[in-house]
Parts: sequence; C-alpha cells; structure tokens
Amino acid sequence: MKVTVTGGTGFIGSHLVEKLLALGHEVLTVDVSRGMGSLEAVMDHPKHTFIQGSILDRELISHCIQQSDIVYHLAAVLGVKTCIEDPLKMIEVNFDGTILLLREAYRHGVKVVFASTSEVYGKNPSVPFTEESDRVLGSTQVNRWSYATAKGLDEHLCFAYMEKGLPVTILRYFNAYGPRQSAGAGMVIPRFIQAALRNEPLYIHGGGSQRRCFTYVGDIVTGTVLAAKPEASGGVFNIGSHYEITIRDLAEKVRELVGSSSPLIETSYEMAYGKGYEDMLRRIPDLTKSMKILGYQPSVDLEYGLKKTIAWFLAAEQEARK
Ligand SMILES: NC(=O)c1ccc[n+]([C@@H]2O[C@H](COP(=O)([O-])OP(=O)(O)OC[C@H]3O[C@@H](n4cnc5c(N)ncnc54)[C@H](O)[C@@H]3O)[C@@H](O)[C@H]2O)c1
Repeated sequence: MKVTVTGGTGFIGSHLVEKLLALGHEVLTVDVSRGMGSLEAVMDHPKHTFIQGSILDRELISHCIQQSDIVYHLAAVLGVKTCIEDPLKMIEVNFDGTILLLREAYRHGVKVVFASTSEVYGKNPSVPFTEESDRVLGSTQVNRWSYATAKGLDEHLCFAYMEKGLPVTILRYFNAYGPRQSAGAGMVIPRFIQAALRNEPLYIHGGGSQRRCFTYVGDIVTGTVLAAKPEASGGVFNIGSHYEITIRDLAEKVRELVGSSSPLIETSYEMAYGKGYEDMLRRIPDLTKSMKILGYQPSVDLEYGLKKTIAWFLAAEQEARK
C-alpha cells in the first residue's frame, strides 16, 4: 500500500514509519520537524519519502493524501507541559490540522487512522475505561483540559465523517513510552530515566499514588498497523496495556533498573505546573474491543520495556558526550 504518516518523525510516528516500511509499504512521511535523526535508519530507504511541512498546509496535505491508500494521522502538539504553557498552539495544530486533513481525505476517499488519546476520558473515576465510557473533564479555565478537548472534538469530526461514508478508525493510546520519547513535554518515563542516569533527583508530582498503564511503543505500533483492517473502520479502540503501576513505584523501578543513586523528591502539582492543575488518579484501558476486532494483544511487559528504553537513553547520552 501507499501510506502517509503525519507526525512521522515524532516518537510514535518514527517507529510506525519503520514498521510500515518493514512490512513492504511505500511510506510518505510529513512532519514540520526532521526529528533529530529519529528516522536516520530509513530516511533514504527506496520506498520512503520525507516531506518537511505542516499539516496546516492544505495544498501539501491534499498532495500527500491524493497519492495514498491510507493516512495515519499522528501529527499533534502534546504533553501536559505544552497544554499549560501554549494551549493556543496545541488547539490550533490539533484541531485545525485534523479538520483540514479529514476534509481532504473525504474529498479523495482515503481511509484515515486517527491517533487519539486516553486523555479524552479525563478524570472519570470509573475504571477500566471502555470505548463507551463517559468523558469527565474539568473547567475550561484549566489549560490542562485543552488537549483532551481538542482531541475529543477531533473524534467528533471523525465520527461525523464516518457518517458521511469515510472509512476512519480512531485509536486511543494509553501512556506510550519507549526509545526516542522526548522528556521535553513533561512525559514521566523519559523524565525519570534522564534524571536517574545523571543521578539527579526524580521529582514525583502530586503524591505519587496516581496509577497508569504504560504501553510500550512496539505495542502501540502493532495496534496502529492493525487499525488498517477494513473491519476496524467506523470504530474507536483503546490501545494500551495491563501493566498498571503507581508513579512512585515507577520512580523506584527506574532508579533500580538504572542502578542510580537519585533521590526521590515529592513536589506538589502547583510547584510543577502552577495553580489549578488537575489530574486523574487511575487510568486503565478495557482492551476487550481492540482484542476482539483488531486482534490486538499487548506483549511487552513494563520491566522489559523499561530496560529497552533505558538502554536507548544511555546510548543517546553517551553519543551526546562524544
Ligand atoms: N505519547 C503518548 O503517550 C501519546 C498518548 C496518547 C496519544 N498520543 C498521540 O499520538 C500521536 C503521536 O504522539 P508522539 O508521542 O509520537 O508525539 P511527538 O511529539 O513525538 O510527535 C508528534 C509529531 O507531530 C509533529 N508535528 C507537530 N505539529 C505539526 C504540524 N503542524 N505539522 C506536521 N507535523 C507536526 C511534531 O514535529 C512531532 O514529530 C499524537 O497525535 C498524540 O496526540 C500520544
């Protein structure tokens, strides 16, 4: 197949591009950034084309979609830190970019796989979340909810285009981690690993009893590739794992696996993200639907995934010191 991946030099996108090429597809990667070498191994692959540009560029997106059988739409601005510091940019890229892309996909009749997020469930206390679970979000005055709101509206758009006959599959990723994830946007696993490797403090925000199901990027990519199946069109699927852990236990696990002497330091959400920050205590996916319809099965356990991620960060730190 001919495939377009938006956000293809990003963390998940770069792993997806590599996988799609390995499966024999022709891949067109679109991203505003060259990704600091994330696609180094496949940039010159004979079946790969990279175009540096924005999903907000209608002509560019139309050009890419016209020559594709399917579009994996991953380009987005994300991260709790970005939500708080630049909500406008996040809303513009995540909403305007997706509406533009869906319009073009509809015009050319091309299937879309849309990367949504478990954030759309917000602070709903009833776990595990099925795809039908309610969305429970806080006040619009709390910037943290702008990402969940933009992605939620994107999902509404996807459903509206499905009703018009466009094949679309929505995936809700649950806390992805793995090699190449940036610590910049405040993601907890890369932040802990980088600090542990430098024997710097691991800052635990908000008590550390929050629980998450972290999902290795290899499993996220497997679920994303499975979403191309015709029977997945018209549906929304959780893509996550069953490896639930508290943030405090995660910090201890990272420190142990790195062999680090980093202290664990508790800080308030307010100190980390300013006044009015809100978070959810638990976030667990019900994977029944994705297992049944997509044939998805997470296979990488947390310890193994963390070891692979730590090895990547260690190699990157050593390379940077050269
Ligand atoms: N990482 C996670 O835990 C997670 C969880 C849930 C959902 N998601 C979703 O998965 C997708 C990929 O996330 P990621 O973790 O790889 O993030 P990432 O930030 O590593 O990748 C996003 C990519 O989008 C690109 N991008 C941003 N604005 C763009 C624009 N205007 N035009 C073209 N490209 C643009 C960035 O340059 C980047 O390479 C996103 O849609 C995100 O919302 C991620």
